[in-house]
Amino acid sequence: MPSSIRLFLRSNPAVYKTYGIAKYALFRAKLLLSDWRDKRAAVALGALPIPPPMLRFRVSGSFDVDQFLEVGRRGARELEVLARLGGKDLACCPAVLDFACGCGRVIRHFQDHAPEARWYGSDIDGEAIRWCKEKLGAVAGFTENDFRPPMSFDPDSFDVVYSVSLFTHLDEDDQFRWLGELARVLRKNGLLIATAHGPYTHQQLPPADLRELTAKGFLYRVGQTGRLKLDGLPDFYQTAYHTEKYIRARWSEHFEIVAYKERAMNEHQDAVVLRKKTFLLADC
Ligand SMILES: C[S@@+](CC[C@H](N)C(=O)[O-])C[C@H]1O[C@@H](n2cnc3c(N)ncnc32)[C@H](O)[C@@H]1O
Repeated sequence: MPSSIRLFLRSNPAVYKTYGIAKYALFRAKLLLSDWRDKRAAVALGALPIPPPMLRFRVSGSFDVDQFLEVGRRGARELEVLARLGGKDLACCPAVLDFACGCGRVIRHFQDHAPEARWYGSDIDGEAIRWCKEKLGAVAGFTENDFRPPMSFDPDSFDVVYSVSLFTHLDEDDQFRWLGELARVLRKNGLLIATAHGPYTHQQLPPADLRELTAKGFLYRVGQTGRLKLDGLPDFYQTAYHTEKYIRARWSEHFEIVAYKERAMNEHQDAVVLRKKTFLLADC
């Protein structure tokens, strides 16, 4: 949607609410249709079961099954390449966490990982985690986390944590809380691979938002809330944008930045490869 229309909608609460109600009604109709189609198809659309439309929508904003599979498959291959930039081979990492795994769109494509490796997925979405436990239990262990840290994992549990499309939704304080928590559960020299809304996505922002983002390096935009929030996730889950300069400066408390790759995740989001900092006694 052109930024002028978006700006007009946002600047007028009554219009924005009406727009939200119309969008919500259309969304419910499409959801019903998609549920009905899935039930009629009732065929194996892939080697692993396909999550129901609402769970697909929550992670991709679409009900489309082919898109769900393709984006997840591609994301998994891109994570392998990004991990190699940090000297890790995902195929033989002993312990990996998909943080904010949703209904397993990405982790399902790592089903051929080494049998002795410990793979986990974690998310706040209890419905998605229940589905993953039931249908993707052969791929990984799954756990529901609270929307604020800590998670139930011990310190130094993982060699690699990846998080696709999470830091694109958190406000600034939660972003820092979770960066600290992910550093806690990573082992020495462990890698975090996270995605962000970089310059490619900034083009769609209205001028005032762009000015704020350029000045601060970070922007958190609140859209619909409550029932009109189509994904059904809590209101804190909105849209965040970053500049590379901000990430290099502000994500470095616990991490060294190994690489920043523009549009490295499905040609849309930027990817950041970070290595957990190791503090020597002499540093204290
Ligand atoms: C856009 S979806 C991406 C899901 C998955 N990474 C993928 O690429 O398919 C964002 C996910 O972040 C999850 N999420 C939001 N806040 C979270 C938090 N504090 N901890 C864990 N997961 C969170 C949501 O429930 C949702 O599943």
